[in-house]
Amino acid sequence: MNREYIGKIEDFPIHKATAINAIGQDIVVYRTNKRIYTFINVCSHEHFPLEDGEYDENTVTCIHHGAKYDLETGKVLALPATSPIKIYKNEIIEGKVYIIID
Ligand code: FES
Repeated sequence: MNREYIGKIEDFPIHKATAINAIGQDIVVYRTNKRIYTFINVCSHEHFPLEDGEYDENTVTCIHHGAKYDLETGKVLALPATSPIKIYKNEIIEGKVYIIID
């Protein structure tokens, strides 16, 4: 299993979306009290970034037209998007965050 280091856990403030480039992709890192989500920074509707979306514990709503996604699965929870977003697995080892490369 390959992985890429993306930063220390404290580099990602809780309940703030952070845009990064890793594994050759534009990715959002979103940390909650329980875990960190890592996913593609592109809405599947008209490809605007998701970093400025509205977040709750496990969803993001794109501010451009209102599509909503489950951050665990990438599934669409609200139109107008019809395709899921790519979710990247991550792991935290001794305070360091890694994205798992498929
Ligand atoms: S670009 Fe995100 S809902 Fe349209």
